[in-house]
Amino acid sequence: MTTLAILTAAGSGARLGRDLPKALVDLGGSPLVLHAARRLVGSGVVDALIVTAPDGLRDVVSDLLAADDRITVPVTVVGGGPTRQASVAAGLEAAHARHDVVLVHDAARPLIPADLVQRVVKAVRAGHGAVVPGLPVTDTVKQVTPGGDVEPVVATPDRSVLRAVQTPQGFARELLVRAHEAGRERAVSEDLAATDDAGLVEALGEPVHIVPGDAAAAKITTERDLRLAELELEGRA
Ligand code: C5P
Repeated sequence: MTTLAILTAAGSGARLGRDLPKALVDLGGSPLVLHAARRLVGSGVVDALIVTAPDGLRDVVSDLLAADDRITVPVTVVGGGPTRQASVAAGLEAAHARHDVVLVHDAARPLIPADLVQRVVKAVRAGHGAVVPGLPVTDTVKQVTPGGDVEPVVATPDRSVLRAVQTPQGFARELLVRAHEAGRERAVSEDLAATDDAGLVEALGEPVHIVPGDAAAAKITTERDLRLAELELEGRA
């Protein structure tokens, strides 16, 4: 009974507007991917890591992780794919079958608290095949017909039943493998690829459960998100 974490770090991070991939952007002296890896390992419930690295940067990412004394579990670095879904699939292919639980986590969420990781793994080990951290939605959300500067509203879903989901998402390994196999043809197109792994499990008709998320696990997409993460790291958020 061991847990593997697949850490996705192969995105370009174009919206951050830097000339290096987002996972290598600095936050308080260390790149995002290193923060995320340290926190996964530091949770005490992760036995091995597979990191998906951007094309041509596998060695850079490998060296970073190998040089860090807080990364005390075996690490494998694989090349990512054209979409996040394809990157996770590449990570899964490199996964050893001895790991019965697989977490999938985005390097774009560097500051995950240990108890969040533990909560997800505990719920999977309690028998839920797919577990996702989520937070209540505080904004009212509108569904639109997208396109143009003025978009028509189609519906206003009841926000009390909505959750904004985060990573790490946790899975029974065989379920995640099955979900990725079934969703494989969507992985190559950015328009069709799944934006999270739980969505692929839902497409199989299998149940997915939510456990409480954490605001500290916020995703870094823009420069503003990075500034907020700096405050969080300094304990000033
Ligand atoms: O771009 P976005 O922030 O949505 O990406 C989410 C995560 O997926 C990031 O950690 C990114 O590095 C990863 N990713 C990947 N391979 C891709 C695209 C994104 O590993 N082709």
